[in-house]
Parts: sequence; C-alpha cells; structure tokens
Amino acid sequence: MKIFMDTANVEEIREFADMGIVYGVTTNPSLIAKSGRTQAEVIPEICALIPGPVSAEVISQDCEGMVKEARELVKIADNVVVKIPCITEGLKAVKILAAEGIKTNVTLVFSLGQALLAARSGASYVSPFIGRLDDIGQDGSKLVEDMVKVFRNYQFKTEIIAASVRNMAHVDRMMLAGVDIATIPTKVLRELIKHELTDKGLAKFMEDYRNSLK
Ligand code: G3P
Repeated sequence: MKIFMDTANVEEIREFADMGIVYGVTTNPSLIAKSGRTQAEVIPEICALIPGPVSAEVISQDCEGMVKEARELVKIADNVVVKIPCITEGLKAVKILAAEGIKTNVTLVFSLGQALLAARSGASYVSPFIGRLDDIGQDGSKLVEDMVKVFRNYQFKTEIIAASVRNMAHVDRMMLAGVDIATIPTKVLRELIKHELTDKGLAKFMEDYRNSLK
C-alpha cells in the first residue's frame, strides 16, 4: 500500500517527505482553505517536494468548466492529478481528460456503483471516503474491501485511493484489504509512527548504555 498525505500543509508534507514514506498527496478545497493559502500558491510547492501524484481539485461543476480548469492545473507540474467529483458532469469531463492523457482522481465516491462508473469513464484514481460512510453508520472500510475485489476481478487499471481515513484502525484495514493507496491525514501518520513500547524500550536501552559506562 502506497502512502499519500491528505493535507495542503506544505510544512507537514516536508516533514514526512524527509522520511521518504510519502508517495503522493491529495488536497481538496476544504484542505486548501485550512492551509490559509490559495491552491495556486500551495500546489506548485507540494509538487516540488513530492515527485509522485499530487491531486488538485476543480471548483467548476459543469463539464466544460472542469475540463478548462483541469487543462490549467496540469500546466503547474507534470505530477498534477486533477480531482473531479463523482457527478454526471464530472464523469463526462474525466472521459475527455483521459483522451487527452490528463490523469484524474474521481472523488466523493461512496458506493461500488460510483466506483465502477468512475473506472469505466477512464479515471486514473478513484477515492472512496471511508470515514464519512462510518459517520452515517455504514462500514466505509467494507466498501474499499469490496472495491479491491471488483477492481481485481475486472483487472481495472484505475487505482483505488482510500480517503477520509480517520484513525489507525482504518489504516490497518486498508492494508489488509490490499488497497493500492491510502491517503492519510498528518495526525494519523504521527500516530502510526508512535508506540509506547518503542519509547519505553529506547529509554531503557539508553539507561543501560549510560550505566555500562560507569
Ligand atoms: O481525502 C478526503 C478527505 O480529506 C476527507 O476527509 O475526514 O473530511 O471526511 P474527512
């Protein structure tokens, strides 16, 4: 499973990029707003830090507008992937962009049916939102498990990005499901690094080392 960071905070991305664990980044209008900066400022900086796919989302909700925005976004850097919502106009835009060789990430996917349509329209990536399904009492991780099976059965080239990941249990289930990618918020990545026995074990090693010098 490849790790993407789900943030538009450049400092956080730099910190994790230094560890070599981040393959790509996903952003959306909410994450851009949270960064306190504009998409035009943030995306070029992220693309310079991360050589893998960096998703930038369109704002338009009509096919023509989305296609126009997408063509501008991909001029920013070679690794920009255009994030398009899973709506009728969005899938039309994905078809046009795929024919032009522009990579897309179909977002706000909440069902197997939406995932199938996104893959068939030519999306490079599809993003099921697991936390938001949990929020309405469904099992978001189960959707991804099912998507992995379906995409394998039909040998789709579209990669699945598990999104709206909220905790370590989500990450564990995504790994076990064999999903291609999980896009993980910084808070959860920090939790993944830590284990109390690591800290305790390290403290003991240091204590024993100091004692051995006496
Ligand atoms: O990648 C999608 C993600 O940013 C949405 O997460 O926690 O707002 O559902 P959340």
